[in-house]
Amino acid sequence: MRTIAVLNQKGGVGKTTSTVNMAAGLARMGRKVAVIDMDPQAHLTIHLGVNPETAGAGIYEVLTKSADINETLTEVRENLYLIGANINLVGAESELVSVVGREIILREAIETIRDDYDYLIIDCAPSLGLLTLNGLAAVNEVFIPLQPHFLALQGFGKLLQTVSLVSKRINPALRVSGILFCMYDKRVTLSSEVKADIENFLENARETNTPWSDAAILPIFVRRNIKLAEAPSYGQTIFEYEPECNGSFDYAAIAEYVDKKMTKDGKHIKLLTEEVTNIEPTVEEITEGQAAEEVITEQAAPQAVTENIVEETIAEVEDTPQQAVNVPIVEVPAAPSVNTPSEIETIVSKDLNTSENSSS
Ligand SMILES: Nc1ncnc2c1ncn2[C@@H]1O[C@H](COP(=O)(O)OP(=O)(O)OP(=O)(O)O)[C@@H](O)[C@H]1O
Ligand SMILES: [Mg+2]
Repeated sequence: MRTIAVLNQKGGVGKTTSTVNMAAGLARMGRKVAVIDMDPQAHLTIHLGVNPETAGAGIYEVLTKSADINETLTEVRENLYLIGANINLVGAESELVSVVGREIILREAIETIRDDYDYLIIDCAPSLGLLTLNGLAAVNEVFIPLQPHFLALQGFGKLLQTVSLVSKRINPALRVSGILFCMYDKRVTLSSEVKADIENFLENARETNTPWSDAAILPIFVRRNIKLAEAPSYGQTIFEYEPECNGSFDYAAIAEYVDKKMTKDGKHIKLLTEEVTNIEPTVEEITEGQAAEEVITEQAAPQAVTENIVEETIAEVEDTPQQAVNVPIVEVPAAPSVNTPSEIETIVSKDLNTSENSSS
């Protein structure tokens, strides 16, 4: 079973949309997929057409050990199973604070289903709290969706640092395998600048001992598409809501890519480098234009009740002697911080100079 956490503490970047539609794409290909809604907002649950107010046992019951994980898996589509977020999940983080081994409850629970599914995909909440920590402790792979605008990389350093700490102290198998560009708009030059910036950062990490040394940007970008924003309110995946739109094409291509092109290289899943082929703006996109911009207003990430629980937990784990796996402690290189268009310009022109120099 491949286990993937879709993670970014920044709100509204496309985590839930990507989880739903990538999972649905994989299920349509005949893979057996389980998804977990780790977000008290319950967007994944709602997006799949399940009402969190009336939903039965879900991830809350798994984390509080009041239900067996098998009882919480609901078949929501052919080959697609949901461990949902019901209203209890809102209080979960504070309830779990005093539980011993609170960060590995999910990891232990999924052991019993490891042979039953091809994929387990976790939609994380937009925070780095205890729920997210449970997600990270349980998976081997992290996908980071990014909306490539000029604040895209704000908080990226903290995100990577969290992954790094979890991999050092709780889950040595944890790797960032893919960066997923969501709401990509080729007409916005910043999109390609943010992309160049991240590529540069990842390139520099290649020979390092970091969990993202093999990470790559998936060569299929999810284009901005109004249908993707409309589908959740109908409780439908994009393939059900509008099979003939860019959103459907992009997520079908992503599912195909994730399943067929991400190869296992030794221990780690690694991306093959490929050219991006789907980002020419289409007539559909151009006519959608402003309408999409209006619908998609930036969502603020809700403040996590226990945002610093990760640091606390990690500090605790750090106090205990290292166990069997002796992972060397590495410095986390600073993530590229892009704040203003002029800063981006400086970075980009520096990159250009470097590549010109190296090619001459
Ligand atoms: N490619 C896209 N084109 C247009 N709209 C999109 C696209 N991807 C996502 N959206 C819309 O943008 C909003 C944010 O997306 P989504 O809910 O997937 O982000 P998220 O990272 O899960 O947010 P949160 O941090 O709140 O959990 C939603 O309204 C969604 O429908
Ligand atoms: Mg979400």
